[in-house]
Amino acid sequence: MANTIITLGDRQFILDRDKAEAAFAAKKVINGRETMFFNILPLKYQWAYDLYKKMKANHWEPEDIQMQKDCEHWRDTSGYISEVERWIIKMGIGYFSAAEGIVGDNILHVIREAVTASELKLVLGRHAHEENIHADSLVYMISSLGINPHECEAMFDDIATIKRKTDFVVSNSRALRRDTDLSITANKQALAKNMFLFGQCMEGTQFYGLFGMVLALYRQNKFPGIGQMFSYTLRDESNHIELLRQLFQDLVDENPDVWTAEYREDLRNTMREAVRLEKEFILDCLPVAAVGLTADEFTTYIDYIGDRRLEGVGLEPLNPPITNPLPWLSEMMEIKKETNFFEGRVTEYRRAVDTGSVSDDDL
Ligand SMILES: [Fe+2]
Ligand SMILES: [Fe+2]
Repeated sequence: MANTIITLGDRQFILDRDKAEAAFAAKKVINGRETMFFNILPLKYQWAYDLYKKMKANHWEPEDIQMQKDCEHWRDTSGYISEVERWIIKMGIGYFSAAEGIVGDNILHVIREAVTASELKLVLGRHAHEENIHADSLVYMISSLGINPHECEAMFDDIATIKRKTDFVVSNSRALRRDTDLSITANKQALAKNMFLFGQCMEGTQFYGLFGMVLALYRQNKFPGIGQMFSYTLRDESNHIELLRQLFQDLVDENPDVWTAEYREDLRNTMREAVRLEKEFILDCLPVAAVGLTADEFTTYIDYIGDRRLEGVGLEPLNPPITNPLPWLSEMMEIKKETNFFEGRVTEYRRAVDTGSVSDDDL
């Protein structure tokens, strides 16, 4: 392949095309060319860059959201807000205040450490930053309502069904923190499983019990500021699920030794356990009847989304085909094009950064 020669005055620069193409070919999800430089060009994983732009366009800040109504609701003594509804809010804040950090930490210290292509590191950095925004939004909710933070922290530590959900993901993450030799198939499988566990099982399935409860209140115009923040968070989560799905797929495509029948079954069993733990948590802690739902339709919803996540990475669902029992919830959660749902600042931020390269259809 011919080199490109650039002449600038009396100086000449030779751009070695072969070298550039070799560098491009050496870009990999894992075990790619190690470079001291964060050289993003040439882009190999275009989806990662596109997703980064999309995530940035959805930027929001907690302080932009009005909390007056929420404060009124929190202090309400007229009976409009029940104690059970306050419990749901506290539970939501308590669970996510720790869960957001667990995800962000794993993204930075396990996944971002292991991947080698710069555009993948770029989008993972944005992912971790969004977890910080989510954590920040919970601090904002607590301080606005005047909730004692220790009460929320205690929820996380003292409720057995929450603790089991946490142990389930953290045990996997810990094992991958050391320098792991990613030339060994078993280690590659462990890393890919980590991506699956955090993206599809935790963010993709185990977040949905509480998301559903808070959004069910939002749908009744209760705690509208908190509801709005949770809906923004969910929009971000759908990008995180997609990010980790694509990353997982590319890792598997580049490393077909990972994709054994035994491994596929292991992942399905991992999702089976994630779904079991989420249902256990819902039945233990979430008074679904208080928001006008039944336990049966809510747990069936968890089965439904767990199967969708499996299909997303090319795995067999765990159940025979299920009709979505809560279509309104999916509509609120898997927002793609309903931009009107997100009024106000998110759309404005998006406009401000929109360079014309992203169409409304991408939302
Ligand atoms: Fe999050
Ligand atoms: Fe997330």
